Amino acid sequence: MTKLNVGLVGAGFMGKAHVVAYSNMPKFFWPAPAVPVLKTVCDIVPEIAADAKERFGFQQSCTDWRDIINDPDIHVVSVCTPNNAHEEIAVAALKAGKHVLCEKPIANTRKASEAMAAAAESVKKDDIISMCAYQYRRIPAVLRAKQIIDEGSIGKILNVRATYLQSWSADPNSPLSWRFQKEVAGAGTLGDIATHVIDLSQYLAGDIKEVVSSLKTYIKERPVQEGGVDLLGTVKLNDDAKKEAVDVDDETSFLVKFESGAVGSIEATRNAWGRNNFITLEVHGTEGSIFFNYERLNELQVCFAKDPDNNRGFKTIYTGPAHFYGEVTWNIPGMNIGYGELKTIEIYEFIRSIVEKDQPSTRFEVGNQVHKVCDAVSKSAQSENWEIVQ
Ligand SMILES: NC(=O)c1ccc[n+]([C@@H]2O[C@H](COP(=O)([O-])OP(=O)(O)OC[C@H]3O[C@@H](n4cnc5c(N)ncnc54)[C@H](O)[C@@H]3O)[C@@H](O)[C@H]2O)c1
Repeated sequence: MTKLNVGLVGAGFMGKAHVVAYSNMPKFFWPAPAVPVLKTVCDIVPEIAADAKERFGFQQSCTDWRDIINDPDIHVVSVCTPNNAHEEIAVAALKAGKHVLCEKPIANTRKASEAMAAAAESVKKDDIISMCAYQYRRIPAVLRAKQIIDEGSIGKILNVRATYLQSWSADPNSPLSWRFQKEVAGAGTLGDIATHVIDLSQYLAGDIKEVVSSLKTYIKERPVQEGGVDLLGTVKLNDDAKKEAVDVDDETSFLVKFESGAVGSIEATRNAWGRNNFITLEVHGTEGSIFFNYERLNELQVCFAKDPDNNRGFKTIYTGPAHFYGEVTWNIPGMNIGYGELKTIEIYEFIRSIVEKDQPSTRFEVGNQVHKVCDAVSKSAQSENWEIVQ
């Protein structure tokens, strides 16, 4: 069995998710396309790097990501740092001939995202794989939705309504971590979570060509959090803590026009009390509709126009062994999958792409296309006009 040595950069929240997925992939997908071996973990904070080595079972740790790039025995690099470090690490890794899975958003600036897409393009001929971590398009229910759309069962798509609503920063005492700093994150809600639903919308309905938007910052300053790890609002600081200005959006909403002629709307906020990971997609076609909500990720709702008037309505498809990845995750109906299995599916697709020399559907070029939509959204919030995605 082929083994691929993994170097992980950034051992925070997503670092853990990648490790769980690398470790579990061969347990679900067997025979695995290749077996990942946890070789080196890097974190800029020495204690985090050392802890991660012990906790996750890496062979070694380091505090400079260049040690991973310069190690000829590392085949695969996971980039799980805050957004401003993605470009430097990912481009260096690709140039060193390593396959790269980079967390989303692809980068914190357009210049960086273009450079990453160009670097990925230049090594494609050597079968080096690039992948952005837009995992939600790999949810079995979303894949079934895509299949239903592609087979024409809901007709021509008229409208896509997508939301990504969270509550973790609705409290003004939720600290000013790197996610609230434009220089590091690039944007607020727009880069952090709207990008996921931009990716999902484009996956289901094709590229977005025009947007008109609004960006809002409700909480203008927040208590400063020491240290580089974002605690996602799980820690609240005291009222007397030092405060600094927030220079990114708390909320974004925009109307979209797709290349196909369909229209739609996308909304994202981290200030929606009561909403946790409320990713919803509602697609209306000439022959039916589809509805999905991540908070019930094992379900897909469908309505077909052809059903008789007295029987028409949304019905629930409960995903399981009969659906994508269902046989290899838990092959008993109703056992369900969650975030851990979803990241495992993503790692399977990454490793499969490497072995089969087949660029994944979320390659850097696709991450860059999402960034182009974000740029048009930012521009439109300033101009208050429709802006073309270019
Ligand atoms: N796909 C998803 O659903 C999803 C969810 C959450 C976060 N993310 C993305 O994952 C990335 C990381 O987010 P997170 O929530 O894990 O953040 P985090 O703050 O929990 O962890 C980031 C880690 O990177 C380390 N780090 C910072 N700069 C570094 C450098 N130059 N070299 C090595 N280590 C460095 C920090 O010390 C920290 O331990 C971000 O790009 C974020 O947008 C994706």
